[in-house]
Amino acid sequence: MNIFTSISSYQDWFKEKAAQKRIGFVPTMGCLHEGHLSLIRESQANNDLTVASIFVNPLQFGPKEDLATYPRDFQRDKRLLEQESVDVLFYPEVVEMYPQPLLTHIAVSSDFESRLCGPFRPGHFEGVATVVLKLFNIISPTVAYFGLKDYQQFVLIRQMVSDLNIPIKVVGLPTVRESDGLAMSSRNRYLSSDDRKLAPLLHKALLAIHQAWLSREINRDEQMRTLFSTLLQDAGFVVQYIEKYDHNLLPSSFRPDHTVIAAAVFMGNIRLIDAVLC
Ligand code: PAJ
Repeated sequence: MNIFTSISSYQDWFKEKAAQKRIGFVPTMGCLHEGHLSLIRESQANNDLTVASIFVNPLQFGPKEDLATYPRDFQRDKRLLEQESVDVLFYPEVVEMYPQPLLTHIAVSSDFESRLCGPFRPGHFEGVATVVLKLFNIISPTVAYFGLKDYQQFVLIRQMVSDLNIPIKVVGLPTVRESDGLAMSSRNRYLSSDDRKLAPLLHKALLAIHQAWLSREINRDEQMRTLFSTLLQDAGFVVQYIEKYDHNLLPSSFRPDHTVIAAAVFMGNIRLIDAVLC
């Protein structure tokens, strides 16, 4: 595996080895798990070359968020990527990506920011869109792979590519879960062992909510919020939000084939998000 820490060394490689090739790209913040590896495998199966990036992007963390403690394990990540026969790892330092304070960045509509994680993570999605556009410009992939677990992020990138006529195909792939249903996440390792046992209840509660809409046991968002809190109340979760939208994240009435139900909760100071798509 080639590991490039500078943009120019990657771009030299690209000119020499990759210019006419079909390149699949998997951007990550590292501390890789089976969710990340599912994106890598899809890229490997459908492209000539696969490029992964590991970059913990300061721009997408709020001042009170976990940038400093975000889990990092480069040696393990490198081993996992080598096992998957990834062709290139792009692994820049912060100064390589942000050599000077930004004068420009991607702005995200206030409507989009008012949904799901938006109100709780001011500036997060602008930070994500800006770094992903920078990575797209650096890597020049044919296709880029994202997880549907971070459904709002996926919709943002999909629309950014369309809004700005970026010649890259964006593919979303299903959430990979632990055997008990917990969505895999780099932050799960910070759950206490008691909380880890209870954490799968988040996914179970989302499935129960989905079922309740289908069977018309509930038909208003307010009832959904009450039922969700009731389902989780004994397990010590603090609910941040539960919301439902159509697949483009626009408000709509429940449709069994075109709805996403997404939630964020805290267990202690660990924030978990999950979504079910139908
Ligand atoms: P990170 O959280 O490392 O996730 C990298 C990619 O893996 C994202 O597309 C995410 O949706 C996907 N992913 C995470 N958990 C998953 C799971 N359980 N199943 C399937 N896919 C999963 O998301 C980011 O990094 C950053 O915001 C980034 C896009 C790299 C920009 O900085």
